[in-house]
Amino acid sequence: MAADKVYAPSDDTFLLIEAIRRKRGRLALEIGVGKGLVSSELAMGYDWAVATDIAFHAVKTASTELKSKGESSTHDMVCCDAASAFRNNSFDLVCFNPPYLPSEEKDDLAVDGGKGGIEIAWCIFQDASRVLRRGGSIVFIASSLSDYSTLVVRAEAEGFTVRTVARKRFFFEELLALEARRD
Ligand SMILES: C[S@@+](CC[C@H](N)C(=O)[O-])C[C@H]1O[C@@H](n2cnc3c(N)ncnc32)[C@H](O)[C@@H]1O
Repeated sequence: MAADKVYAPSDDTFLLIEAIRRKRGRLALEIGVGKGLVSSELAMGYDWAVATDIAFHAVKTASTELKSKGESSTHDMVCCDAASAFRNNSFDLVCFNPPYLPSEEKDDLAVDGGKGGIEIAWCIFQDASRVLRRGGSIVFIASSLSDYSTLVVRAEAEGFTVRTVARKRFFFEELLALEARRD
């Protein structure tokens, strides 16, 4: 994908929306906002929603989208790596649809997930875990094309309980929305 292109909402986007749709709370964070569709949903269920993206053009695009829909009054966006702009123990919910395709190179920030397709996702998960409040949850997308079971094992080793909250099967891939909780 060209450097100034933003990830177009796809099946994984809609699966994440399905997984967070009925969630309610005070403060939510989406890491990797893309065009802002997931964050738009978060802004409806939470008192305040914040989103980050490592790509400035994504933050700019999503910010413009939400403003045009009149949804920016309960939403903020920051260009940063994962949740690095935020303090520990801040959010009731953190969600993300990470780049998850196994890749040697990390040329495309939106899709190249590194070794086993979980290298970037695991870095994001760890930072999500840092900013998560006690009793909160992390909801994220995983693909059968990646080694996501290793990611689940690592999350469980950090004290999380992980369950599948939504899934969609295609002929070449299964997408899963996973929820990790640590009470
Ligand atoms: C698969 S796209 C998902 C976009 C959008 N959330 C959606 O579901 O349509 C992944 C997004 O994560 C962003 N991203 C990748 N690595 C990141 C990181 N370390 N911190 C923040 N955002 C990141 C990419 O720029 C891209 O916008």
